[in-house]
Amino acid sequence: MEPVDTLAAVDVQALETEALDAVAAASTEEELDEARVRYLGRKSALKQALRGVRDRESGMALNALRERLEQAVAEREEAFAAERQRARTGDAYDPTLPGDAPPRGHLHPITQIRREVEDVFLGLGYEIVDGREVETTRYNFDALNLPAWHPTRSSRASLFLDDETVLRTETSPSQIRTMEERGGPPIYMITTGRVYRRDTVDATHTPIFHQVEGLAIDEGITLADLKGTLLHLMRALFGEDRAVRFRTHYFPFTEPSIEPDVSCFLCDGRGCSVCKHSGWIEMGGAGMVDPALYEFVGTEMYDPERISGFAFGLGLERIAMLRHRLPDIRMLWQNDLRVLEQF
Ligand code: FA5
Repeated sequence: MEPVDTLAAVDVQALETEALDAVAAASTEEELDEARVRYLGRKSALKQALRGVRDRESGMALNALRERLEQAVAEREEAFAAERQRARTGDAYDPTLPGDAPPRGHLHPITQIRREVEDVFLGLGYEIVDGREVETTRYNFDALNLPAWHPTRSSRASLFLDDETVLRTETSPSQIRTMEERGGPPIYMITTGRVYRRDTVDATHTPIFHQVEGLAIDEGITLADLKGTLLHLMRALFGEDRAVRFRTHYFPFTEPSIEPDVSCFLCDGRGCSVCKHSGWIEMGGAGMVDPALYEFVGTEMYDPERISGFAFGLGLERIAMLRHRLPDIRMLWQNDLRVLEQF
């Protein structure tokens, strides 16, 4: 059978003009509904023509017309709805009504934690020092007594800009810069900021994270001062209930070295996937400043026979996780407002 040319049966142009005129002329919602039934209803010329379509070209032309008419009706319906709304609420300007409050943001949980840590140390008489994120290998590795074979010197562990420049892998280089700038004790300083490592991402690791570094150098400073200071910080951040322990450890720039752990917030020390079934979460590293560092900056300024000091470096994300019971560090970086709005 020969395909019937449906387009011949309807004059698309004339039908469109007529239908759009009717929609525009409707002065009430009832009139609009009548126009909709007449031009788009089951018995309308358009629907009948669509039912009889046999060729592709006619089908496309008629469907496009149907879409244009539906759009025109929808727009008119919206206009009527808006009018109804105006009639209900009245659009007279009332200057005594409070204005629309602009939406307010708030500080990111990491910034909140950073400020809290800074407040604790300001209360202890420490000063806050700015560090730098782009470091020389001299300050990031040599000054910190890292041997030539140390794995963090490798481009597989750290992000190098060139042979002698690296994105700092820890905040510890700021110990050296502060010692040089001050020219001698006493020093009581902290610094906070971003550090970079080629670490594999998991629930407690990201390649960019934040540390707080602390350094105290004076006469008569002992390991007991370091433990007391860290305990004071942990109590201020986590309350009296969380248990804190110190493990012996090794860092090239402290001797002796310790690592403070806090009991796991999720399992309360019983063991779970967040604490890798140990019951404890590592917060950072610390120890007594190694005499090699005094030698690097100059023993005439820092005489290890006369003075001593401690240093520590803690992960701010770990602190935030413990504080807010976050099971995954990635939640702090994804910027999902449903998470961030809870702090
Ligand atoms: C250090 O970075 C030493 N500079 C700490 C230090 C300072 C020791 C001063 C002695 C004196 P460590 O590599 O263990 O140590 O990192 C310290 C803390 O940073 C960790 O305990 C953890 O809380 C945090 N951290 C380390 N790697 C990551 C990572 N990939 N993502 C998030 N946090 C991390």
